[in-house]
Amino acid sequence: MAVPLTSTSEALFARAREVTPGGVNSPVRAFNAVGGTPRFIRSASGPRLTDVDGNEYVDLICSWGPMLLGHGHPAVLEAVQAAVSRGTSYGTPTEGEVALVEAIVARTPVERLRLVTSGTEATMSAIRLARGFTGRDVVVKFAGCYHGHVDSLLAAAGSGLTTFSIPGTPGVPASSTELTLVLPYNDREAVAAAFAEHGDRIACLITEAAPGNMGVVPPAPGFNQFLAETCRAHGALFISDEVMTGFRVSKAGQWGTDGAVEGWVPDLMTFGKVMGGGFPAAAFGGRADVMSHLAPEGPVYQAGTLAGNPVATAAGLATLSAATDEVYARLDVVADALRAGVAETFTAAGLPHVIQSTGSMFSVFLTEAPVTNFAQAQATSVPAYAALFHSMLDQGVHLPPSAFEAWFVSSSHDDRAVQQVLDALPAAARAAAAAGFEARRGAPRTSTTEEV
Ligand SMILES: Cc1ncc(COP(=O)(O)O)c(C=O)c1O
Repeated sequence: MAVPLTSTSEALFARAREVTPGGVNSPVRAFNAVGGTPRFIRSASGPRLTDVDGNEYVDLICSWGPMLLGHGHPAVLEAVQAAVSRGTSYGTPTEGEVALVEAIVARTPVERLRLVTSGTEATMSAIRLARGFTGRDVVVKFAGCYHGHVDSLLAAAGSGLTTFSIPGTPGVPASSTELTLVLPYNDREAVAAAFAEHGDRIACLITEAAPGNMGVVPPAPGFNQFLAETCRAHGALFISDEVMTGFRVSKAGQWGTDGAVEGWVPDLMTFGKVMGGGFPAAAFGGRADVMSHLAPEGPVYQAGTLAGNPVATAAGLATLSAATDEVYARLDVVADALRAGVAETFTAAGLPHVIQSTGSMFSVFLTEAPVTNFAQAQATSVPAYAALFHSMLDQGVHLPPSAFEAWFVSSSHDDRAVQQVLDALPAAARAAAAAGFEARRGAPRTSTTEEV
């Protein structure tokens, strides 16, 4: 199923590059990490994408997380069509917003929630609120955790663990990151040292509830609880970013999976992706006393023209309502089958690999040893992943076009789709093994250039 050189995707990519930087509206879509031409998608249904050349792919991107139920789920389409028929945006409060917020409050420990339109807005607003609430300025984050393209979080670690950061991209002034501390993930000592030195200045620590943006790197047992306790001991707020994990790894996200067991409750949480059902909707929320500092109740300003958009809230509510226990059980079945297939075929091909999971979200690292932080993720083989990716694509399976991403499944991935992926794996594993095991060359990536 190789795409001919004169494909419509190639023609569209050439056209797009004339008018849009890199030809795409979000960097990872450009295939820079794997080479080649991105497939321009014309339509999607259930677990499948169809490109403009008529090629079909089993979709393991799922829009980078939102499509929990697959593409074109009937209940979501029905809700969206009904919403659209009533108008698309009013700029006034609606019943749909209340219902979506109630649904999220019912599933998570948040007491109050504010809707926004992207995960970036959610984390940016949560940090502003944490600073406004505590009257402190310093923010702690982890290398390899991505929280959207918020200036203060586009930071690369400084020269020492407890020193402040430098901008991770041109365009971010040093003044935006000089109050950000970037620490290695899963490293309790680094966290303790940073709080020992700067504790009385730290407004908040933000972490992915279970990182998926350096590939899936689960928190060590008790790590989130340790973070919550450390924050509490120093009067800082603990922000758990569940934009990716929320309503995907379980009905309540990562908090519902291990927080309820380990006993960590975030002061603030951020959500996105699944809660918008494929439309731009995201949220931040948490403790009522903290959220009451937000305008118009309190002094911390935050707003949005399309926040709580009626079409997006209808899609989000329909998605959450349809996300039953059976849906999560199916996600596990699909992910288990794919993980088992990868393990078997990669082992047979002599391809070193480590599969890491948080619920049904998983990553296949082409490396020998488990990955617990960003530095280790960077040491995995990028050329081998590119070979794997292209072989799978040629066989009709669309993996994420980057070695540092989660593979996402949906409840619409039926046995036929799963089998198609399994059938494609042996040839792809041989191609990856032939591509070799060079680790990433050149300057290490900063935690800021996680691409979405
Ligand atoms: C954990 C996490 N936080 C925040 C974001 C930013 O969300 P958005 O792309 O909607 O701005 C992402 C996006 O991938 C994410 O994975």
